[in-house]
Amino acid sequence: MKVLFASSEIYPLAKTGGLADVAGALPQALRQGGCDVRLLMPAYRGIAAQAEARAVANLGDPFGRGDAEILEGRLPGCDLPLWLLDNPALFDRDGGPYQTAAGADWPDNDVRFALLSWAAARLSQPGSPLGWQPDILHCHDWQTGLAPAYLKAWGGPAPATVFTIHNMAYQGNFASDLVPRLGLPWELYTLDGFEFWGHLSFLKAGLALADRLTTVSPTYAQEIQSAPNGFGMEGLLSWRGRELSGILNGADYTIWDPSVDSHLPRRYGLEDFTEGKAANKAALQAELGLPQRAGAPLLIVISRLSDQKGMDLLLGIMPAVLGLGCQLALLGTGDRRLEDAFRGLAESHGDQVAVRIGYSEDLAHRMQAGADMLLMPSRFEPCGLTQIYALRYGTLPVVHRTGGLADTVVDSTYDSMLHTQATGFVFDQSLASAFQWTIERAAALIRNPEQWRRIQATAMRMAFGWDKAAAAYTDLYRALRPHAG
Ligand code: ADP
Ligand code: GLC
Repeated sequence: MKVLFASSEIYPLAKTGGLADVAGALPQALRQGGCDVRLLMPAYRGIAAQAEARAVANLGDPFGRGDAEILEGRLPGCDLPLWLLDNPALFDRDGGPYQTAAGADWPDNDVRFALLSWAAARLSQPGSPLGWQPDILHCHDWQTGLAPAYLKAWGGPAPATVFTIHNMAYQGNFASDLVPRLGLPWELYTLDGFEFWGHLSFLKAGLALADRLTTVSPTYAQEIQSAPNGFGMEGLLSWRGRELSGILNGADYTIWDPSVDSHLPRRYGLEDFTEGKAANKAALQAELGLPQRAGAPLLIVISRLSDQKGMDLLLGIMPAVLGLGCQLALLGTGDRRLEDAFRGLAESHGDQVAVRIGYSEDLAHRMQAGADMLLMPSRFEPCGLTQIYALRYGTLPVVHRTGGLADTVVDSTYDSMLHTQATGFVFDQSLASAFQWTIERAAALIRNPEQWRRIQATAMRMAFGWDKAAAAYTDLYRALRPHAG
């Protein structure tokens, strides 16, 4: 089974969130299951050198922004074949994959990701200059949503297409005059094509025109078929409900496991996690300039600071959280107002709050190891990887019961504790009061070390490896291309 995997970010080359982790790890698991997977992503600045990539094909200049070249290399750290879409005018610049360093969307994101979609479609067709044609083109999120549209528009033999939804909130909706400029036919600018409220929607193109749809947890697959989590596309998604499935993401335990994690001052496992976490906690407190209080519950947030993540709820209850004697360490970047509010909190409560605005893979690992609890009060969460990592580190997640959070964390109730199933703390309503009460509940339970340790041990034993998801995706590919092997 030959699979072309197209994504706008892939760990470790480019990452803004969980999509990169998925696009870096799932293909490796698919390959172990026997699939021939190749990756396609843009050649953002500096990436070609890291991937040791060299030019192998020129696809021409479809949108008048210069030639699209394909560079061939390998994903660092593993052997996966990688193709980089090189177009210096569109991708070789300082800043992030989607935004300037100051946090504004790149004004030409429409053309940038239309080109990624176009290249994915072009490389999937017979006669591809790479001499390799996939049986399946697997696209991810709006940045690759137009690929099924190009294949439909061009007609002729094509691979089957799978479109995975990582987040319905990001849709790539642009002015409709782009349709001809991107070489797309007006015939597809319809209700059952890529038209969405008078705009060209890249996300809707994927949702309407791919052969199969998946999303990253079973609960989210249900939630997006109605408002508000369908973000206006719930009608289309419920209409395609039979072709939509929820496959829970996994964790790459070669990267996210405290017994092998090279970022930690002290590694630990199931046998010695109490001492191991205590050492990591003391080191983290020192690193962040917090008082080294072993008994103060240390709560962490590692997150994009966006409306999705419910950080306004956390700000609202901070007086109560501080009143409980907890410490908070936050690592995040995003919404300027949230960044400022958390910075302000760290300034006024330096003995209990440490805030790092920015992105640090290293610190994220050390925080997972040193903390007692991870806070994820997300309004919606397609899957969420941070809480899955936290479980493995014995850091108990406090989460809103939504999407993948609902599918991965078991609330500590009398019953679940009795049956050794509890792994964290879950609240049902997306309300500050519910969140506060749940943190209070957790802060009370941590005073019972024996019970807390039992929950930690259960959490650490949870196995969310990628093998299960890879098997589910492989079954899906086989159902679409039964003769491909
Ligand atoms: P999302 O994809 O919605 O951002 P996930 O929980 O699926 O949420 O994935 C988030 C990923 O990004 C995790 O690997 C997490 O460690 C990482 N991450 C998020 N913010 C930061 C940050 N500021 N610094 C380092 N890593 C971060
Ligand atoms: C998105 C979602 C997150 C999910 C990730 C990887 O960014 O917000 O919940 O874990 O994609 O699928």
